[in-house]
Amino acid sequence: MSDGAADSLGRTAEELVRLAAGRLRREVWDYLSGGAESEATIAANRAAIERMGFVPRVLRDVSRVEERTVLLGRPLALPVFLAPIGSLALLHPGGAPAAARAAAASGTTAFVSLMAEPGPEAIAREAPGLVLQVYMRGDRAWLRDLVARAEAAGYAAVCLTVDSAVYGRRERDLINRYSSSMAADRAHLGAGGGAQITAHQSGLTWDMVAALRGMTRLPLVLKGIASPADAALAVEAGMDAVYVSNHGGRQLDFTLGALDLLPPVVEAVAGRAEVLVDGGFLRGTDILKALCLGARAVGLGKLQGWALAAGGEAGLRHLLALLAEEIRTAMALLGCARLPDLSPALLRSLPAPFMPGPLSAFRGLREGQGLNAEG
Ligand SMILES: Cc1cc2nc3c(=O)[nH]c(=O)nc-3n(C[C@H](O)[C@H](O)[C@H](O)COP(=O)(O)O)c2cc1C
Repeated sequence: MSDGAADSLGRTAEELVRLAAGRLRREVWDYLSGGAESEATIAANRAAIERMGFVPRVLRDVSRVEERTVLLGRPLALPVFLAPIGSLALLHPGGAPAAARAAAASGTTAFVSLMAEPGPEAIAREAPGLVLQVYMRGDRAWLRDLVARAEAAGYAAVCLTVDSAVYGRRERDLINRYSSSMAADRAHLGAGGGAQITAHQSGLTWDMVAALRGMTRLPLVLKGIASPADAALAVEAGMDAVYVSNHGGRQLDFTLGALDLLPPVVEAVAGRAEVLVDGGFLRGTDILKALCLGARAVGLGKLQGWALAAGGEAGLRHLLALLAEEIRTAMALLGCARLPDLSPALLRSLPAPFMPGPLSAFRGLREGQGLNAEG
């Protein structure tokens, strides 16, 4: 982390969140930070992480800690990637191109939402090794065409999101009478591909997943898996990665926390595919808990959005540098010089979440109030 970035953006991730809170209009802050209905899923994501405590090992030579990993055959400098966010342009003028560049500059990758402006081809020109995240917005021929576009644009993998058969009821947005520009049509979605959720998406079944497998040799990721039964079906359908996610609490209210969903999925996948996870991850220790439980890498949703809002591309690069530092610190203190040294034996589950310490980061978020005082 450069001293210049630390001076303007802070020395902790919480400072980035506070900067974002000061910069975003109230309804945009709520759109980014809120979830479906009672927001129980958002709380569950944090509670699942905060119920896990470490049992560190000592005397294991951590003079050189290495947080590198491999995701879908490509090296990652840290076990963290940017989750797909369709509306990055709402948060900062740099939008999805800035996120793609920040990921690449930090040695990681970004999942590029099909909804993101200025569209898959233009974003792919910003950075190598990106993953195109697809919502089903047309028929089988539409999907075939889109996959061909992803291949031609140089995407490293394709990710199909399957937890959004319908749009979740986001009550902050309903109360604010706010509708993000996501409702508008996107020219880059191609013929027949309006941005609204349609019967193509709500009618999606495993047949289309099998058809997708037949359309490309690119690695495929299925995002939005919660049940181990679905994880097993995903592997049988030839998916290269199973992405455990409850969409950051934006879709089904009262879903179990992502970290609680993870172990049964890891067991069902049984090493036949990589397992990714997102939902509520804010810190290096959060990320290491998921890796202890078998995840290959962790996606950042809202935290990515806050960092982008705080400082654009530089904000995101700063966030990823902070997380790498937190990860290295915690690995050393856990007695793990390399990520494969992480295991479930380093974790124990408590009946209730830890009490937040007096300097606990993100307290405003925990209380569900947000930090944004405006309006
Ligand atoms: C503003 C916003 C927009 C999102 N857009 C998409 C999207 O276009 N496609 C998708 O698969 N997931 C989308 N997600 C979900 C994220 O990819 C991710 O699953 C979730 O945010 C992770 O939880 P976290 O926010 O607690 O980190 C979006 C999330 C947010 C916050």
